[in-house]
Amino acid sequence: MSSSEIQIKEMVAHKWDLASETFDTHAGHGIQSKKERDAWKYAFLKVFPEKGLKILDVGCGTGELSLLFAEMGHEVTGIDISRKMLKTAESKAEACRANVTFEEGDAENPHFDASSFDIVFSRHLLWTLPNPKKAVVNWGKMLRKDGKVVIIDGVWDNGTLASRVRRNAGALVTLLVERKDPKKGHAGYSDELKAQLPHAGGAPLEKVKEYLSSAGLENIRIFDLKDVRKAQKEKMPLGERIVRSHQYYLICGRK
Ligand SMILES: C[S@@+](CC[C@H](N)C(=O)[O-])C[C@H]1O[C@@H](n2cnc3c(N)ncnc32)[C@H](O)[C@@H]1O
Repeated sequence: MSSSEIQIKEMVAHKWDLASETFDTHAGHGIQSKKERDAWKYAFLKVFPEKGLKILDVGCGTGELSLLFAEMGHEVTGIDISRKMLKTAESKAEACRANVTFEEGDAENPHFDASSFDIVFSRHLLWTLPNPKKAVVNWGKMLRKDGKVVIIDGVWDNGTLASRVRRNAGALVTLLVERKDPKKGHAGYSDELKAQLPHAGGAPLEKVKEYLSSAGLENIRIFDLKDVRKAQKEKMPLGERIVRSHQYYLICGRK
């Protein structure tokens, strides 16, 4: 890794260390209702219906979905570069007595053997990687035959004026009408840091499709997560709901 990449990752880790305490309070991060939990389970069963899979959750954060996978009967490992996000994940696992392994690790350069997982999963991670294509190619290498890379991401800022106005309006409503901090639960990257990330406003679906193909994955399928989003929206403050019309997807490819 070059020294500038190391520096970017240190900045990213620091941002998430700071956000770790409030991350789960944000609807869209922490699961907020039984309806949302059920919608997630139903969505994942459509993508990987088998039980007892070996899953690697890259950029697992506070482990919200790692723990859901464990609840669904899978053997889960979560890696992240933020020690504080991992600490929160570990406390949550302890509280619900879940058997999930959480480790410090870089999603772009994972330290696992080739062919060691059935599923490599990431949610809301690609946008914050300096080398997203390299990451996806490396995820493909860690898959066993017939294993899947499963990615959940979206584009919340496509660089247009309309998207900026919508986001700012949402933040203003949260701040002025609901008297809440719109940044709560988010990492808030500087423009300098964003400039180092090819998908700082979110990873476009077509680009991610290309990454999966570059990783040699086949049978690429896309899901809209409509029911999950509907359940999340019910628990979101008004300001958040205003910005929630951006592209959002689950995409997967098979080895
Ligand atoms: C938006 S959060 C998503 C957390 C989790 N995947 C979720 O959906 O709840 C992004 C996470 O990616 C982690 N992260 C960023 N860059 C990473 C990298 N290169 N390797 C591993 N984790 C990384 C951050 O520390 C943070 O916990």
